[in-house]
Amino acid sequence: MSAAIAGARVARTVDDVEPIVSVRDLVREYRMGDEHVHALRGVSFTIAAAEYVAIVGPSGCGKSTLLNLLGVIDRPTSGTVSIAGERVDQLPDARATDFRLRRIGFVFQRFYLMQALSASENIELPLAEAGMRGPARRARARELLDYVGLARREGHRPSQLSGGEQQRVANPRALGN
Ligand SMILES: Nc1ncnc2c1ncn2[C@@H]1O[C@H](COP(=O)(O)OP(=O)(O)OP(=O)(O)O)[C@@H](O)[C@H]1O
Ligand SMILES: [Mg+2]
Repeated sequence: MSAAIAGARVARTVDDVEPIVSVRDLVREYRMGDEHVHALRGVSFTIAAAEYVAIVGPSGCGKSTLLNLLGVIDRPTSGTVSIAGERVDQLPDARATDFRLRRIGFVFQRFYLMQALSASENIELPLAEAGMRGPARRARARELLDYVGLARREGHRPSQLSGGEQQRVANPRALGN
């Protein structure tokens, strides 16, 4: 992969703490009939807790492929991915789903908010899926909406929010759990 991992190394006071993300010799090949596409050819890196990292590189270099593996949406051809001390590269589907729910937040470029649900209900959805009860859920959603400055929009459907406001609902939805 020709992508550079540009890490701003902030808050890295203790070097021997376990990294939050650890990737070793990651390979992902796609099969297209007889042809093999080598999307990732042996990528290794670690990311520390509280470290901000951007993955940059030309189109087709493997960024989305890498993110799908870090997000436990896809499995590598070989190599390992550990997140918060847990190996996630070969999890069976049900355990991968559970891991994503508990440990990973996705902010999609197109927000994929549920159109039939209010701002608050959109944020509550993954909380409900994780087993949080109604009152606690609503309180958590209100707290998160307040944090992004949308307390007064909690009853709005996505179509009744601006583009930036929709983004600000998608962000706390990713952070709720
Ligand atoms: N499902 C697939 N089957 C076969 N080849 C694939 C598949 N998905 C991606 N590829 C190929 O793997 C390579 C990496 O693709 P990837 O989507 O990771 O690139 P990217 O860095 O995210 O690019 P972009 O900046 O254009 O989004 C590309 O050459 C692409 O054509
Ligand atoms: Mg991409």
